[in-house]
Amino acid sequence: MPDIVVSSPSLRGYMAADVLWALIIILTALFTFSWMQTVKKSDPDKRSPTIDYFELSGVPLPKSLPNFDLAKAKPRPYRPFRWPFHQTMSLSSLESDWWIELESTYHYRVNQRKELYAKHRDAILFCLPGAEAACRELMFMVVQFLCARYPTHFFFNPLSGMFRNDILGSTYDTNTVESLHFLLDNVPEDFLIVLKDEATGFYHLKAAVSASAIGFSLKEKRGKPLHEIHDPVPDYAEKLKPSMDRFFNRMPIDKPIQRGSWSFEAGQPLYLMADDPAFALHKRMDPNLDIDEVCLRVDWQTLRRLPESKAIVFHFKAFFTPVIQLKDEPYVPALISKVLKGAKENIKAYKGWSHLEHKLLPALDAYAEDQVDRGLVPEGWEVRTLDEHPFYPGWKSKWDWDSE
Ligand code: HEM
Repeated sequence: MPDIVVSSPSLRGYMAADVLWALIIILTALFTFSWMQTVKKSDPDKRSPTIDYFELSGVPLPKSLPNFDLAKAKPRPYRPFRWPFHQTMSLSSLESDWWIELESTYHYRVNQRKELYAKHRDAILFCLPGAEAACRELMFMVVQFLCARYPTHFFFNPLSGMFRNDILGSTYDTNTVESLHFLLDNVPEDFLIVLKDEATGFYHLKAAVSASAIGFSLKEKRGKPLHEIHDPVPDYAEKLKPSMDRFFNRMPIDKPIQRGSWSFEAGQPLYLMADDPAFALHKRMDPNLDIDEVCLRVDWQTLRRLPESKAIVFHFKAFFTPVIQLKDEPYVPALISKVLKGAKENIKAYKGWSHLEHKLLPALDAYAEDQVDRGLVPEGWEVRTLDEHPFYPGWKSKWDWDSE
């Protein structure tokens, strides 16, 4: 019996088309593969776009937020207060979904940081020789995180190296862009890169894009080892240095961590150098200060080792919360009040909230009392670190934008 399929001219045409398609697919795959191999071999700096850094590091990519609404997104309410308070490293495992946390101040902060860079240049952004590969690796980790977490806002083509930010309407060629400038333009968070210096055996600050310093200039810290960077920090040499050095030497790639640092400010200063006249002004006790102006500032920090360069990235974002908002956060006012009243003098002098105390402490105590009256906190509650640390009971109900 004749073969009907082959003898039909139109079906023969289909078969020819199938074969052609198969050939095109195979040739494209072969071309792409050989191109990737050539790129890998010829220029180590061009390898990055095709590497899956999250797979390489063993840290999962973040859960995607396809319905993310930037205009409505609030930062999570970090309240990293502990009682009893001891100056320890107080590290916990990074919640990997939250490495970078975009929220409604995005446009404002990106612009603010770019203006700060235009004014202060290398006090905000620098990359010392030898740190270029780590900066580039960090940029690609950030790109991969953004595209996975916010898939409707960021797009990346690993073959062409083109990145698109649909929030800002901008496009970048990652083959040519300067990595730290890319971060400055797209992520309103600070990144500091430390690399081990084989000569000293210590980790030194080699690169940074950081626009949130209060009371010090990054210029003074550039190139220095961690213990010199932390020189002004109370109890650092005695209590933190030995564990920090050990920690940095051993930190595994697949165990990033997070921690919080806090302070109180009048207003919302993001960046103030100690020699700026505004710095002295902002430390002055003002009898007319209104509690509405006082804010809790939390710098939520993360640390991770990059899988290729083995650099460690210290990263943080500053969040401000008007103190008056704490009145509805169960247990938080009483906890903060206890921490402030019980602080050692050296911590108090370093963190510098004395000029606000005359308004801050009475307000916190009044909120704490009111919470007992409202039944939010049981009478006689003995102040201690909350089980929900660094948050507080019930916080999630207010953060339902992240319904996923
Ligand atoms: C690459 C990693 C890090 C860098 C580059 C870095 C950098 C800095 C800088 C520039 C300051 C301000 C110092 C000043 O006032 O002059 C600071 C403060 C401080 N750092 Fe670090 N840091 C890093 C990691 C850590 C870690 C892992 C800890 C954990 C113990 C830590 C604990 C502190 C503390 C306690 C302060 C004082 C402010 C506060 O109360 O949080 N740092 N750090």
